Amino acid sequence: MVKINKNYLKLQENYLFSTIAKKVSDFQKINPDKKVIKLGIGDVTLPIIPVVVKAMKQAVEEMGEKETFKGYGPEQGYDFLREKIVEWDYQKRGIPMEKEEIFVSDGAKCDTGNFQELLDINNTVAITDPVYPVYLDSNVMAGRTGGFNRETQKFDRVVYMPVTEKNGFVPELPKEKVDLIYLCLPNNPTGTVLSKEKLKKWVDYAKEKEALILFDAAYEAFITEENIPHSIYEIEGAKEVAIEFKSFSKTAGFTGVRCAYTVVPKEIQMGGVSLNTLWNRRQCTKFNGVPYITQRGAEAIYTEEGQKQIKENIEYYRENAKIIREGLEKAGYTVFGGINAPYIWLKVPEQLTSWEFFDKLLEEKNIVGTPGSGFGPSGEGYFRLTAFGSRESTIEAMQRLK
Ligand code: MLT
Repeated sequence: MVKINKNYLKLQENYLFSTIAKKVSDFQKINPDKKVIKLGIGDVTLPIIPVVVKAMKQAVEEMGEKETFKGYGPEQGYDFLREKIVEWDYQKRGIPMEKEEIFVSDGAKCDTGNFQELLDINNTVAITDPVYPVYLDSNVMAGRTGGFNRETQKFDRVVYMPVTEKNGFVPELPKEKVDLIYLCLPNNPTGTVLSKEKLKKWVDYAKEKEALILFDAAYEAFITEENIPHSIYEIEGAKEVAIEFKSFSKTAGFTGVRCAYTVVPKEIQMGGVSLNTLWNRRQCTKFNGVPYITQRGAEAIYTEEGQKQIKENIEYYRENAKIIREGLEKAGYTVFGGINAPYIWLKVPEQLTSWEFFDKLLEEKNIVGTPGSGFGPSGEGYFRLTAFGSRESTIEAMQRLK
């Protein structure tokens, strides 16, 4: 008899954002006349910028002509895009990078979820608590996390690094031996960032302990403050110990288009094996590359005009974040994040749990957010709102909360 992978049974029944979508759709079925404002999942609302639309249209035309048609592309991404990424995202910041270290993909979610496949099942994983659920779920699926302890709401073999108001939402270096460390900065869900000095401590730690950092920089474009690294490779030595994940989803409104990239430096050797070679091997077997049309669209961002247009969109979301922060503060909430990130992390009124607050907000104010406990046990008592809504609905949400 075929047996299932029992590790899947250790997962929560549904993925966090699917649970929320189902709750909202149930609510809407019985309240069809209520206008629900969705500030839950971080999905963009502004359309694709004109330079990208133009480039994609042109690529569609090319696909319709015999002379310029393209079949399977390179699994690692077309050189035209890899070269632009190297130049604009790294060399312009003074970071040496080769195009062979860039792997274009269809999303940071997939890559952060898949990368653990390259690593031994007995490695110990360290995650912040709360955390983007994909890091934990993908390790649970692989069987790396041990059993689930219902009392603590934690997995036995995972090292949880609590990030709470007490430590300023900054994780402390683990005291026990860990092998794989997931860091997301600017952070989803808390909106926290680390200065160069603080991030350097993590790089030094990974070097000393021979650990690997999986660094999710999907929200890097939202950094406003000085001295906050946009890439972990701004830190000396990081190319020996860190994989970086970047995405066009939030930077260029590609949540529905799908394009991202992962940097696997050639310097990273584990027991004499190159992770770059292994990831390349994995991608060639399991991935057929991102569509040509999409990659031409992504390439168009790397022009003066492209940069100007995406900055305008990011500015729009930043203003939304400011409206939310100020609106919540006026309404008496304690608020974090939202300055270098599109997420605002707030404390729920004391007598309520995160999920009770979710229900109350949905039923009474018809606003959707994300309960903090959905990101981990230390997220209990907190709630996340996203700045990716439209300006009108963001303003209306704050008026309803007033
Ligand atoms: C989120 O809301 O946390 C993100 O949109 C999820 C994602 O990017 O997959």
